[in-house]
Amino acid sequence: MERIEYVRVPKGLENVIVDKSSISVSDPEGELIYRGYEIGDLAENSFFEETAYLILKGKLPNEDELGDFISKLKRERDVPDEIFEIFIKLKGKYLTPIDVQRIGLELLMAYDEKWYSQSYDDLILRAIKIISKLATITANGYRIIFKNKEPIKPRYDLGHSENFLYMLKGEVPDNFSSRIFDITMILYMDHDFNASTFTTRCVGSTLSDIYSAISAGLGALKGPLHGGANEKATEMLLKIKDENDAERYIMETLAKKEKVMGFGHRVYKKLDPRTAVAKKIFAKILEKKPQYLNMYKIMLKFEEVMWRERKIPANVDFWIGPIYYTLDLDIPLYTPLFALSRVVGWAAHYIEQVQENKIIRPKADYVGPRGLNFPYKRNWLSKL
Ligand SMILES: CC(C)(COP(=O)(O)OP(=O)(O)OC[C@H]1O[C@@H](n2cnc3c(N)ncnc32)[C@H](O)[C@@H]1OP(=O)(O)O)[C@@H](O)C(=O)NCCC(=O)NCCS
Repeated sequence: MERIEYVRVPKGLENVIVDKSSISVSDPEGELIYRGYEIGDLAENSFFEETAYLILKGKLPNEDELGDFISKLKRERDVPDEIFEIFIKLKGKYLTPIDVQRIGLELLMAYDEKWYSQSYDDLILRAIKIISKLATITANGYRIIFKNKEPIKPRYDLGHSENFLYMLKGEVPDNFSSRIFDITMILYMDHDFNASTFTTRCVGSTLSDIYSAISAGLGALKGPLHGGANEKATEMLLKIKDENDAERYIMETLAKKEKVMGFGHRVYKKLDPRTAVAKKIFAKILEKKPQYLNMYKIMLKFEEVMWRERKIPANVDFWIGPIYYTLDLDIPLYTPLFALSRVVGWAAHYIEQVQENKIIRPKADYVGPRGLNFPYKRNWLSKL
Protein backbone atom coordinates (compact mmCIF):
# COMPACT_ATOMS: atom_id res chain seq x y z
CA MET A 1 0.00 0.00 0.00
CA GLU A 2 1.20 3.50 -0.86
CA ARG A 3 2.36 5.35 2.24
CA ILE A 4 0.26 8.47 3.04
CA GLU A 5 2.30 11.55 3.91
CA TYR A 6 0.21 13.57 6.36
CA VAL A 7 0.59 17.36 6.37
CA ARG A 8 0.65 18.92 9.80
CA VAL A 9 -0.85 22.42 9.96
CA PRO A 10 -0.86 24.92 12.87
CA LYS A 11 -3.53 24.63 15.55
CA GLY A 12 -6.64 26.65 14.66
CA LEU A 13 -5.62 26.40 10.96
CA GLU A 14 -3.77 29.68 11.53
CA ASN A 15 -2.41 31.09 8.24
CA VAL A 16 -3.47 27.97 6.34
CA ILE A 17 -5.15 28.37 2.95
CA VAL A 18 -7.61 25.49 2.58
CA ASP A 19 -9.43 26.20 -0.72
CA LYS A 20 -10.03 28.75 -3.48
CA SER A 21 -12.85 31.28 -3.26
CA SER A 22 -13.85 34.25 -5.41
CA ILE A 23 -16.29 35.76 -2.89
CA SER A 24 -14.18 37.90 -0.56
CA VAL A 25 -10.67 38.34 0.77
CA SER A 26 -9.31 39.91 3.95
CA ASP A 27 -5.72 41.07 3.82
CA PRO A 28 -3.42 41.40 6.89
CA GLU A 29 -2.41 44.92 5.86
CA GLY A 30 -6.01 46.01 6.44
CA GLU A 31 -8.01 45.48 3.27
CA LEU A 32 -11.32 43.69 2.74
CA ILE A 33 -12.66 43.05 -0.75
CA TYR A 34 -16.05 41.65 -1.80
CA ARG A 35 -15.98 40.29 -5.36
CA GLY A 36 -13.33 42.84 -6.36
CA TYR A 37 -14.78 45.90 -4.59
CA GLU A 38 -13.16 47.43 -1.53
CA ILE A 39 -15.32 47.44 1.62
CA GLY A 40 -15.10 51.22 2.23
CA ASP A 41 -16.31 51.89 -1.33
CA LEU A 42 -19.30 49.56 -0.92
CA ALA A 43 -20.19 50.84 2.55
CA GLU A 44 -20.11 54.45 1.36
CA ASN A 45 -21.96 53.92 -1.93
CA SER A 46 -23.99 50.70 -2.00
CA PHE A 47 -26.95 49.34 -0.03
CA PHE A 48 -27.93 45.96 1.44
CA GLU A 49 -29.81 44.48 -1.53
CA GLU A 50 -27.22 45.56 -4.10
CA THR A 51 -24.23 44.24 -2.12
CA ALA A 52 -26.15 41.04 -1.34
CA TYR A 53 -26.69 40.51 -5.08
CA LEU A 54 -22.99 41.14 -5.69
CA ILE A 55 -21.93 38.61 -3.06
CA LEU A 56 -24.42 35.96 -4.14
CA LYS A 57 -24.10 36.28 -7.91
CA GLY A 58 -20.52 37.52 -8.30
CA LYS A 59 -21.27 40.76 -10.18
CA LEU A 60 -23.14 44.01 -9.63
CA PRO A 61 -26.73 43.88 -10.91
CA ASN A 62 -28.00 46.07 -13.74
CA GLU A 63 -31.21 48.01 -13.07
CA ASP A 64 -33.57 45.18 -14.12
CA GLU A 65 -31.64 42.53 -12.24
CA LEU A 66 -31.63 44.65 -9.09
CA GLY A 67 -35.35 45.39 -9.38
CA ASP A 68 -36.08 41.69 -9.84
CA PHE A 69 -33.86 40.73 -6.87
CA ILE A 70 -35.49 43.34 -4.60
CA SER A 71 -39.01 42.17 -5.50
CA LYS A 72 -38.06 38.54 -4.90
CA LEU A 73 -36.68 39.46 -1.46
CA LYS A 74 -39.90 41.37 -0.69
CA ARG A 75 -42.11 38.48 -1.81
CA GLU A 76 -40.27 36.19 0.63
CA ARG A 77 -40.80 38.35 3.73
CA ASP A 78 -43.75 36.41 5.14
CA VAL A 79 -43.22 33.60 7.62
CA PRO A 80 -45.90 30.97 8.41
CA ASP A 81 -47.97 31.89 11.49
CA GLU A 82 -47.35 28.39 12.90
CA ILE A 83 -43.70 29.33 13.45
CA PHE A 84 -44.81 32.26 15.62
CA GLU A 85 -47.19 29.93 17.49
CA ILE A 86 -44.22 27.71 18.31
CA PHE A 87 -42.28 30.80 19.42
CA ILE A 88 -45.07 31.63 21.91
CA LYS A 89 -44.46 28.24 23.56
CA LEU A 90 -40.75 29.08 23.91
CA LYS A 91 -41.31 32.14 26.12
CA GLY A 92 -39.28 31.93 29.34
CA LYS A 93 -37.06 29.05 28.12
CA TYR A 94 -33.25 29.10 28.17
CA LEU A 95 -32.76 30.65 24.76
CA THR A 96 -30.97 33.68 23.37
CA PRO A 97 -32.16 35.54 20.24
CA ILE A 98 -29.57 33.82 18.04
CA ASP A 99 -30.92 30.40 19.12
CA VAL A 100 -34.35 31.63 18.04
CA GLN A 101 -32.89 32.46 14.62
CA ARG A 102 -31.56 28.90 14.37
CA ILE A 103 -34.82 27.32 15.50
CA GLY A 104 -36.82 29.55 13.14
CA LEU A 105 -34.55 28.76 10.21
CA GLU A 106 -34.86 25.03 10.78
CA LEU A 107 -38.64 25.32 11.02
CA LEU A 108 -38.64 27.26 7.74
CA MET A 109 -37.12 24.24 6.04
CA ALA A 110 -40.29 22.30 6.83
CA TYR A 111 -42.22 24.71 4.60
CA ASP A 112 -39.86 24.44 1.65
CA GLU A 113 -40.62 21.46 -0.58
CA LYS A 114 -37.30 21.85 -2.41
CA TRP A 115 -35.10 22.31 0.66
CA TYR A 116 -32.74 19.59 -0.52
CA SER A 117 -32.16 20.89 -4.07
CA GLN A 118 -28.60 21.74 -5.02
CA SER A 119 -29.19 23.11 -8.52
CA TYR A 120 -27.73 26.63 -8.84
CA ASP A 121 -31.06 28.33 -9.58
CA ASP A 122 -32.84 26.55 -6.74
CA LEU A 123 -30.03 27.47 -4.35
CA ILE A 124 -30.22 31.16 -5.28
CA LEU A 125 -33.98 31.03 -4.60
CA ARG A 126 -33.36 29.27 -1.27
CA ALA A 127 -30.75 31.93 -0.41
CA ILE A 128 -33.27 34.73 -1.14
CA LYS A 129 -35.91 32.98 0.98
CA ILE A 130 -33.54 32.51 3.91
CA ILE A 131 -32.08 36.06 3.79
CA SER A 132 -35.54 37.62 3.68
CA LYS A 133 -37.41 35.38 6.11
CA LEU A 134 -34.60 35.39 8.67
CA ALA A 135 -35.19 39.13 9.13
CA THR A 136 -38.90 38.51 9.87
CA ILE A 137 -38.02 35.63 12.22
CA THR A 138 -35.40 37.71 14.06
CA ALA A 139 -37.63 40.75 14.61
CA ASN A 140 -40.77 38.83 15.52
CA GLY A 141 -39.03 36.04 17.46
CA TYR A 142 -37.50 38.77 19.63
CA ARG A 143 -40.83 40.56 20.03
CA ILE A 144 -42.74 37.39 20.94
CA ILE A 145 -40.27 35.51 23.14
CA PHE A 146 -38.31 38.28 24.82
CA LYS A 147 -40.68 41.27 24.76
CA ASN A 148 -44.03 39.53 25.13
CA LYS A 149 -45.36 41.49 22.15
CA GLU A 150 -47.45 40.60 19.11
CA PRO A 151 -45.62 39.88 15.84
CA ILE A 152 -45.71 42.59 13.18
CA LYS A 153 -46.35 41.78 9.52
CA PRO A 154 -43.61 42.91 7.14
CA ARG A 155 -44.22 45.92 4.90
CA TYR A 156 -43.55 45.60 1.20
CA ASP A 157 -42.91 49.27 0.45
CA LEU A 158 -39.74 49.40 2.58
CA GLY A 159 -36.16 48.30 1.91
CA HIS A 160 -34.73 45.24 3.67
CA SER A 161 -33.05 47.11 6.56
CA GLU A 162 -35.90 49.61 7.00
CA ASN A 163 -38.48 46.82 7.06
CA PHE A 164 -36.47 44.85 9.62
CA LEU A 165 -36.28 47.86 11.97
CA TYR A 166 -39.96 48.52 11.39
CA MET A 167 -40.91 44.96 12.39
CA LEU A 168 -38.62 45.07 15.42
CA LYS A 169 -39.81 48.41 16.81
CA GLY A 170 -43.27 48.76 15.34
CA GLU A 171 -42.51 52.08 13.68
CA VAL A 172 -40.77 53.08 10.46
CA PRO A 173 -37.23 54.21 11.34
CA ASP A 174 -35.95 57.65 10.35
CA ASN A 175 -33.64 57.85 7.33
CA PHE A 176 -30.56 58.45 9.44
CA SER A 177 -31.00 55.30 11.56
CA SER A 178 -31.95 53.02 8.70
CA ARG A 179 -29.02 54.21 6.53
CA ILE A 180 -26.55 53.65 9.38
CA PHE A 181 -28.03 50.24 10.07
CA ASP A 182 -27.85 49.37 6.38
CA ILE A 183 -24.14 50.33 6.24
CA THR A 184 -23.38 48.04 9.20
CA MET A 185 -25.14 45.25 7.27
CA ILE A 186 -22.71 45.80 4.38
CA LEU A 187 -19.72 45.76 6.75
CA TYR A 188 -20.79 42.42 8.23
CA MET A 189 -21.82 40.66 4.99
CA ASP A 190 -18.83 38.46 4.25
CA HIS A 191 -15.30 37.77 5.46
CA ASP A 192 -13.59 34.94 3.60
CA PHE A 193 -13.09 31.71 5.60
CA ASN A 194 -13.98 32.98 9.07
CA ALA A 195 -15.12 30.36 11.62
CA SER A 196 -18.87 30.45 10.87
CA THR A 197 -18.35 30.51 7.10
CA PHE A 198 -15.92 27.62 7.27
CA THR A 199 -18.45 25.75 9.44
CA THR A 200 -21.12 26.40 6.80
CA ARG A 201 -18.78 25.14 4.07
CA CYS A 202 -17.90 22.01 6.10
CA VAL A 203 -21.59 21.11 6.35
CA GLY A 204 -22.07 21.95 2.66
CA SER A 205 -19.14 19.72 1.78
CA THR A 206 -21.09 16.68 2.99
CA LEU A 207 -23.77 17.77 0.46
CA SER A 208 -26.20 18.38 3.30
CA ASP A 209 -28.84 21.06 2.52
CA ILE A 210 -28.41 24.84 2.69
CA TYR A 211 -30.70 25.21 5.75
CA SER A 212 -28.60 22.77 7.80
CA ALA A 213 -25.37 24.45 6.69
CA ILE A 214 -26.54 27.98 7.61
CA SER A 215 -27.94 26.74 10.89
CA ALA A 216 -24.47 25.41 11.74
CA GLY A 217 -23.00 28.80 10.73
CA LEU A 218 -25.36 30.49 13.21
CA GLY A 219 -24.13 28.16 15.95
CA ALA A 220 -20.51 29.11 15.23
CA LEU A 221 -21.23 32.84 15.05
CA LYS A 222 -22.79 32.81 18.52
CA GLY A 223 -19.44 32.29 20.29
CA PRO A 224 -17.82 35.29 22.06
CA LEU A 225 -14.58 34.84 20.11
CA HIS A 226 -16.57 35.39 16.90
CA GLY A 227 -19.87 37.28 16.42
CA GLY A 228 -20.69 37.23 20.13
CA ALA A 229 -17.93 39.83 20.64
CA ASN A 230 -20.14 42.80 19.62
CA GLU A 231 -22.43 42.14 22.61
CA LYS A 232 -19.56 41.49 25.03
CA ALA A 233 -17.64 44.60 23.92
CA THR A 234 -20.71 46.82 24.39
CA GLU A 235 -21.44 45.38 27.83
CA MET A 236 -17.82 45.99 28.78
CA LEU A 237 -17.86 49.60 27.54
CA LEU A 238 -21.04 50.40 29.44
CA LYS A 239 -19.22 49.61 32.70
CA ILE A 240 -16.43 52.12 32.00
CA LYS A 241 -16.95 55.61 33.46
CA ASP A 242 -14.33 57.68 31.61
CA GLU A 243 -10.94 57.57 29.88
CA ASN A 244 -8.99 57.03 33.15
CA ASP A 245 -11.29 54.16 33.99
CA ALA A 246 -10.64 52.73 30.52
CA GLU A 247 -6.89 52.73 31.14
CA ARG A 248 -7.39 51.05 34.53
CA TYR A 249 -9.71 48.40 33.10
CA ILE A 250 -7.37 47.47 30.26
CA MET A 251 -4.26 47.28 32.45
CA GLU A 252 -6.08 45.07 34.96
CA THR A 253 -7.53 42.83 32.25
CA LEU A 254 -4.16 42.38 30.53
CA ALA A 255 -2.44 41.73 33.88
CA LYS A 256 -4.94 38.92 34.50
CA LYS A 257 -4.10 37.60 30.99
CA GLU A 258 -7.72 37.99 29.97
CA LYS A 259 -8.97 39.19 26.59
CA VAL A 260 -10.30 42.70 26.02
CA MET A 261 -13.41 42.06 23.96
CA GLY A 262 -13.58 43.62 20.52
CA PHE A 263 -9.80 43.56 20.05
CA GLY A 264 -7.58 41.27 18.03
CA HIS A 265 -8.14 39.40 14.82
CA ARG A 266 -6.82 36.29 13.15
CA VAL A 267 -6.09 38.15 9.92
CA TYR A 268 -5.83 41.88 10.65
CA LYS A 269 -2.74 42.70 12.70
CA LYS A 270 -2.62 46.47 12.01
CA LEU A 271 -6.13 47.55 11.10
CA ASP A 272 -9.54 46.01 10.58
CA PRO A 273 -10.70 48.14 7.61
CA ARG A 274 -14.30 47.88 8.76
CA THR A 275 -13.45 49.85 11.90
CA ALA A 276 -12.36 52.81 9.73
CA VAL A 277 -15.89 52.98 8.26
CA ALA A 278 -17.52 52.32 11.63
CA LYS A 279 -15.58 55.20 13.20
CA LYS A 280 -16.84 57.58 10.49
CA ILE A 281 -20.38 56.39 11.27
CA PHE A 282 -19.83 57.07 14.97
CA ALA A 283 -18.59 60.59 14.20
CA LYS A 284 -21.82 61.20 12.22
CA ILE A 285 -23.88 59.85 15.11
CA LEU A 286 -22.17 62.31 17.46
CA GLU A 287 -23.33 65.23 15.32
CA LYS A 288 -26.93 64.20 16.06
CA LYS A 289 -26.51 62.54 19.44
CA PRO A 290 -23.74 64.30 21.43
CA GLN A 291 -24.72 62.32 24.53
CA TYR A 292 -22.49 59.50 23.19
CA LEU A 293 -19.34 61.64 23.21
CA ASN A 294 -18.08 60.11 26.46
CA MET A 295 -18.53 56.60 25.05
CA TYR A 296 -16.63 57.65 21.90
CA LYS A 297 -13.74 59.08 23.94
CA ILE A 298 -13.60 55.89 26.01
CA MET A 299 -13.45 53.83 22.82
CA LEU A 300 -10.60 55.90 21.40
CA LYS A 301 -8.78 55.46 24.72
CA PHE A 302 -9.25 51.70 24.47
CA GLU A 303 -7.70 51.74 21.00
CA GLU A 304 -4.79 53.90 22.16
CA VAL A 305 -3.97 51.76 25.23
CA MET A 306 -4.39 48.40 23.45
CA TRP A 307 -2.04 49.57 20.70
CA ARG A 308 0.46 51.02 23.18
CA GLU A 309 0.48 47.90 25.38
CA ARG A 310 0.09 45.03 22.90
CA LYS A 311 -0.02 46.40 19.34
CA ILE A 312 -3.50 44.91 19.01
CA PRO A 313 -6.08 46.84 16.94
CA ALA A 314 -9.82 47.00 17.57
CA ASN A 315 -12.00 44.81 15.37
CA VAL A 316 -15.34 45.52 13.71
CA ASP A 317 -17.36 44.27 16.70
CA PHE A 318 -15.80 46.82 19.05
CA TRP A 319 -17.31 49.63 16.96
CA ILE A 320 -20.52 48.15 15.62
CA GLY A 321 -21.88 46.99 19.00
CA PRO A 322 -21.82 50.59 20.35
CA ILE A 323 -23.26 51.90 17.05
CA TYR A 324 -26.27 49.59 17.58
CA TYR A 325 -26.45 50.92 21.14
CA THR A 326 -26.75 54.50 19.88
CA LEU A 327 -29.56 53.33 17.57
CA ASP A 328 -31.40 52.19 20.69
CA LEU A 329 -31.21 48.49 19.83
CA ASP A 330 -31.15 45.93 22.66
CA ILE A 331 -27.74 44.33 23.31
CA PRO A 332 -28.89 40.66 23.09
CA LEU A 333 -29.78 41.37 19.46
CA TYR A 334 -26.33 42.45 18.30
CA THR A 335 -25.00 39.04 17.31
CA PRO A 336 -28.30 38.12 15.59
CA LEU A 337 -28.02 41.41 13.66
CA PHE A 338 -24.55 40.36 12.52
CA ALA A 339 -26.13 37.04 11.40
CA LEU A 340 -28.87 38.85 9.44
CA SER A 341 -26.16 40.17 7.18
CA ARG A 342 -23.59 37.33 7.27
CA VAL A 343 -26.33 34.95 6.11
CA VAL A 344 -25.71 36.38 2.62
CA GLY A 345 -22.06 35.34 2.79
CA TRP A 346 -22.91 31.92 4.22
CA ALA A 347 -25.33 31.28 1.37
CA ALA A 348 -22.78 32.36 -1.26
CA HIS A 349 -20.10 30.18 0.30
CA TYR A 350 -22.45 27.20 0.52
CA ILE A 351 -23.23 27.56 -3.19
CA GLU A 352 -19.54 27.93 -4.09
CA GLN A 353 -18.67 24.88 -1.98
CA VAL A 354 -21.28 22.49 -3.39
CA GLN A 355 -20.50 23.55 -6.94
CA GLU A 356 -16.87 22.50 -6.72
CA ASN A 357 -17.12 20.11 -3.88
CA LYS A 358 -14.69 17.93 -2.01
CA ILE A 359 -15.72 16.74 1.43
CA ILE A 360 -13.82 18.59 4.18
CA ARG A 361 -12.39 15.85 6.33
CA PRO A 362 -9.04 16.47 8.04
CA LYS A 363 -7.16 14.07 10.34
CA ALA A 364 -6.42 14.34 14.04
CA ASP A 365 -2.92 13.96 15.42
CA TYR A 366 -3.97 11.20 17.82
CA VAL A 367 -2.19 11.51 21.15
CA GLY A 368 -4.35 9.05 23.14
CA PRO A 369 -3.37 5.53 24.23
CA ARG A 370 -3.42 2.41 22.03
CA GLY A 371 -3.50 -1.35 22.72
CA LEU A 372 -5.57 -1.32 25.95
CA ASN A 373 -7.44 -4.52 26.76
CA PHE A 374 -11.15 -4.01 27.55
CA PRO A 375 -11.67 -5.55 31.03
CA TYR A 376 -15.31 -6.76 30.78
CA LYS A 377 -15.56 -9.70 28.35
CA ARG A 378 -19.36 -9.85 27.74
CA ASN A 379 -19.21 -11.72 24.42
CA TRP A 380 -22.54 -10.33 23.19
CA LEU A 381 -22.31 -11.79 19.67
CA SER A 382 -21.36 -15.30 20.69
CA LYS A 383 -24.37 -15.40 23.05
CA LEU A 384 -26.96 -14.32 20.43
C1 LIG B 1 -10.17 37.26 17.53
C2 LIG B 1 -9.27 36.28 18.26
C3 LIG B 1 -10.08 35.05 18.64
C4 LIG B 1 -8.12 35.88 17.34
O1 LIG B 1 -7.48 34.78 17.91
P1 LIG B 1 -6.06 34.23 17.42
O2 LIG B 1 -5.81 34.60 16.03
O3 LIG B 1 -6.04 32.78 17.78
O4 LIG B 1 -5.03 35.03 18.29
P2 LIG B 1 -4.66 34.74 19.80
O5 LIG B 1 -5.88 34.66 20.66
O6 LIG B 1 -3.73 33.57 19.87
O7 LIG B 1 -3.88 36.07 20.12
C5 LIG B 1 -2.47 36.29 19.88
C6 LIG B 1 -1.90 37.02 21.09
O8 LIG B 1 -2.57 38.27 21.26
C7 LIG B 1 -3.29 38.28 22.50
N1 LIG B 1 -4.62 38.81 22.27
C8 LIG B 1 -5.39 38.62 21.17
N2 LIG B 1 -6.58 39.22 21.30
C9 LIG B 1 -6.55 39.82 22.50
C10 LIG B 1 -7.48 40.61 23.20
N3 LIG B 1 -8.67 40.88 22.70
N4 LIG B 1 -7.16 41.05 24.42
C11 LIG B 1 -5.94 40.77 24.95
N5 LIG B 1 -5.00 40.02 24.34
C12 LIG B 1 -5.30 39.57 23.12
C13 LIG B 1 -3.38 36.83 22.93
O9 LIG B 1 -3.50 36.70 24.34
C14 LIG B 1 -2.10 36.26 22.39
O10 LIG B 1 -1.06 36.64 23.26
P3 LIG B 1 0.17 35.64 23.57
O11 LIG B 1 0.83 35.42 22.23
O12 LIG B 1 0.96 36.38 24.57
O13 LIG B 1 -0.46 34.38 24.09
C15 LIG B 1 -8.68 36.95 19.53
O14 LIG B 1 -7.98 38.12 19.17
C16 LIG B 1 -9.74 37.26 20.56
O15 LIG B 1 -10.11 36.37 21.35
N6 LIG B 1 -10.29 38.52 20.60
C17 LIG B 1 -11.33 38.88 21.52
C18 LIG B 1 -12.70 38.42 20.99
C19 LIG B 1 -13.16 39.23 19.79
O16 LIG B 1 -13.17 40.44 19.79
N7 LIG B 1 -13.58 38.51 18.76
C20 LIG B 1 -14.14 39.11 17.52
C21 LIG B 1 -13.24 38.85 16.36
S1 LIG B 1 -13.77 39.75 14.93
